Amino acid sequence: MEFEKLIRERYSCRKLKDTPIEKEKLERILEAGIAAPTGCNYQPYKLWVLTGEENCRVMSELTKYTFGAGTFIVVGADPSKAWTRKYDGLNISTIDASIVATHLMLGIHDAGLGSTWVGSFNAPEMKKHYPEMQDYELIAIFPVGEIEEEARPAKLHYERKGISEMVRFDLMPTGDEI
Ligand SMILES: Cc1cc2nc3c(=O)[nH]c(=O)nc-3n(C[C@H](O)[C@H](O)[C@H](O)COP(=O)(O)O)c2cc1C
Repeated sequence: MEFEKLIRERYSCRKLKDTPIEKEKLERILEAGIAAPTGCNYQPYKLWVLTGEENCRVMSELTKYTFGAGTFIVVGADPSKAWTRKYDGLNISTIDASIVATHLMLGIHDAGLGSTWVGSFNAPEMKKHYPEMQDYELIAIFPVGEIEEEARPAKLHYERKGISEMVRFDLMPTGDEI
């Protein structure tokens, strides 16, 4: 899909079918995710694709935002493998993982499926259910599925601040006295 169309059309879809996702589509989505750039190309993240009754049950215990999906992609950042900025010690693992997550989100729409980036979930509990996730910062769950007929963007989708509010063009550095 053409980029402009993709970013304009995508919305947080909150009505999904729980039918399995075609293997080719899932692969395409995951390929979009791993195509993301990361600092120093360290790729400090992991993706878990969770399907099946047991996983769906656990997901609905961890978050109310499952939206009827039967497939979930969990994104984890691994701080121990990420680049750190020497000037202030900023560890960029969650930035890297967020870029991957953004690619996934757009890839899902490009594949004709629906999803929402879900950040509101019980991450500590999730780690108890899936000990492999223990050392990761769990940044997102993407419930993924075919879009229900009646699904529509929520009101917030249409509310974006404008460039004039969000972007400064006239900023200058302060003088040497600071
Ligand atoms: C980091 C992040 C966390 C989010 N967490 C949730 C969430 O837990 N539940 C939810 O329903 N939507 C969640 N959203 C979706 C936002 O509410 C949504 O992107 C925003 O309202 C704009 O709407 P749109 O995606 O339809 O354009 C999240 C989005 C982002 C980027």
